Amino acid sequence: MALPRAHRLDLIKPFQVMELLGRARALEAQGRDIVHMEVGEPDFPTAEPVIEAGVQALRAGKTGYTTACGLPELREAIAGHYWRTSGVHIDPSRILVTPGASGALLLALALVANAGDGVLVPDPGYPCNRHFVQHLDARAVPLPATAEQRFQPQPTDLAAVWDDGCVAAMVASPANPTGTMLAPGQGAALHDWLAERDAALIVDEIYHGLVYGAAPPTVLTERDSVLVVNSFSKYFGMTGWRLGWLVVPDGMQQDAEKLAQNLYIAASTPAQHAALACFQEPALALFEERRQAFAQRRDYLLNAVREIGFRLPAEPEGAFYLYADSSSLAEDSHALCRDLLEQAGVAITPGLDFGTLGAAGHVRFAYTNSLERLQSGVERMADWLRG
Ligand SMILES: Cc1ncc(COP(=O)(O)O)c(C=O)c1O
Repeated sequence: MALPRAHRLDLIKPFQVMELLGRARALEAQGRDIVHMEVGEPDFPTAEPVIEAGVQALRAGKTGYTTACGLPELREAIAGHYWRTSGVHIDPSRILVTPGASGALLLALALVANAGDGVLVPDPGYPCNRHFVQHLDARAVPLPATAEQRFQPQPTDLAAVWDDGCVAAMVASPANPTGTMLAPGQGAALHDWLAERDAALIVDEIYHGLVYGAAPPTVLTERDSVLVVNSFSKYFGMTGWRLGWLVVPDGMQQDAEKLAQNLYIAASTPAQHAALACFQEPALALFEERRQAFAQRRDYLLNAVREIGFRLPAEPEGAFYLYADSSSLAEDSHALCRDLLEQAGVAITPGLDFGTLGAAGHVRFAYTNSLERLQSGVERMADWLRG
């Protein structure tokens, strides 16, 4: 007897970096020291006040389901966060608390895309996006994002790949893997182009807060009817708690709630109680300290990788990644990553994980490791490249 196997599984590729990570762990088990620059999560533990709020919630028996949209006080706190950081008023009824940004992205796509519909996903971009689209039996249409345009699309780029069956475009600001952001007005321009075609703009702002120059406001300050994804994973340091949120345009609340109820019932209750502490001192002060530590690492790594031969045509403004052009060092970045791991003991991610456009000529560095470890990683790479 053979069990059925869904065709969509053939469209979903495993991450290259997982293979690399598996190899790194095997080398570590043999006693090798590996400098990790491939991991896309903060190396800081969840802030103590947040843990404390979570523990208190558990002890107080707050372990049942919440409503599908999330705790009302958390939705209000998120609305307050938008007001404080961007000066924009978002009605809490438009905010749905979700299981991570992953849950929010799935929800957003399930709200707008039917089977066969096209959704534009940036290449390079966060790899799960195209898989989320494919999971809905919709079509992931690659949206080329080049260094010349700082890896952020303009309406003309949408037009170049658009077809009559397209219903939405996804972008991220700051983006993974490039760390670049939408320029002021760029979100509005994309929205307006899409609105003329009755199509939706989905903006992933998961790396908001982790920005090293002037902090940008949310795209919601430019246009109200954008689906905005965010998360407690990165800036708030809660990856494993699995908590995020989605802001939906007015009028979509009921549909979104209905979907949330059916897809996952509700996000984790203890995590939601813990997250309330994220919007208060002293957690806020700690997040700022951590942002500064990331800024220091970024400044170091930007120059250091350039000095050893990588190019950074579009300097990242946020997130904790550098998307570096490795084409003058190696023809195939996947082979380069493998060699750096095996021979230099440094783990970085090949461009292939983020799409196909220019992938063989790019790698991603994540500065989710201490300055000392990053320095040691760069020294090892420099030695190896010198041969
Ligand atoms: C751009 C982007 N969106 C969404 C996610 C998913 O994050 P979460 O942990 O909130 O589900 C990630 C995780 O790395 C990401 O980089």
